[in-house]
Amino acid sequence: MRTPSFSRSDYLAAADVIRKATAHRPTVGLILGSGLGALADSVEAPSIIPYEQIPLWPRSTVAGHQGRLVIGRLEGQTVMVLQGRVHFYEGYSIQEIAFPVRVMQAMGVQTLIVTNAAGGINKSYVSGDLMLISDHINFPGMVGNNPLVGPNDEQLGPRFPDMSSAYDGKLRALARRVAAQAGFTLHEGVYACLSGPNFETPAEIRMLRAIGADAVGMSTAPEVVAARHAGIRVMGVSGISNATIDTVDSSLKTSHEEVLYNMNNSIVPKLATLIRGVLSSMDSA
Ligand code: HPA
Repeated sequence: MRTPSFSRSDYLAAADVIRKATAHRPTVGLILGSGLGALADSVEAPSIIPYEQIPLWPRSTVAGHQGRLVIGRLEGQTVMVLQGRVHFYEGYSIQEIAFPVRVMQAMGVQTLIVTNAAGGINKSYVSGDLMLISDHINFPGMVGNNPLVGPNDEQLGPRFPDMSSAYDGKLRALARRVAAQAGFTLHEGVYACLSGPNFETPAEIRMLRAIGADAVGMSTAPEVVAARHAGIRVMGVSGISNATIDTVDSSLKTSHEEVLYNMNNSIVPKLATLIRGVLSSMDSA
């Protein structure tokens, strides 16, 4: 594992490059997961910045994840959209995964909207559903793979940040209203973050259910921890891309193809409606 090596000056340098490449001054950050890049294509007056042009910015190696920053207007907000993100299982350090959030902080972003694909743990969830994240269980973080490990820069945030309401209550209430108006089900539940890249064993799924997880995935928690440390408010949404398998010798299997297929076909349209509705109705800070 690579050791953390970033400091505030690295984040400021990346933010400087971005500011020079766009006249927009984003206050909302969006991190879009598997299959969700399409929303970035509808950003108006976009400034498009390939990740390789931003110093130290990590670049994804996963099929279905693009690698560029799209900055512009969406539903009345000035947004900074990550079209593609990196994951712990790709071999990036947890600090590299949090790097884009630190750059958002340096850019003056106040609100982060993060989406992901996740397996359904809660037995009432079916593939294609959306789950608003109310809280998370951060397995990598709990065993030391936490982006806040290392010397704390007080100018970035406090040494011991509170995580009791990591996912903003007002934004969740707004998301519930948007989903009700649009007429689709929006579950609300706990997201368990595992490092991956293998999908879970049935015993792991049963354990996750027993400890109160409703969905499981391989992203999001590190970025959210960094964002909360930075004082950025957060909304998170999981697209339930597959049922998880909780017994051995099942005829079912979980695959990345299934995840991408369900994201593209049943989740992305609802997720786009939800994000647009939240952006158009939220106050800017
Ligand atoms: N497990 C972990 N991560 C995932 C899953 C899953 O079932 N589906 C999409 N991301």
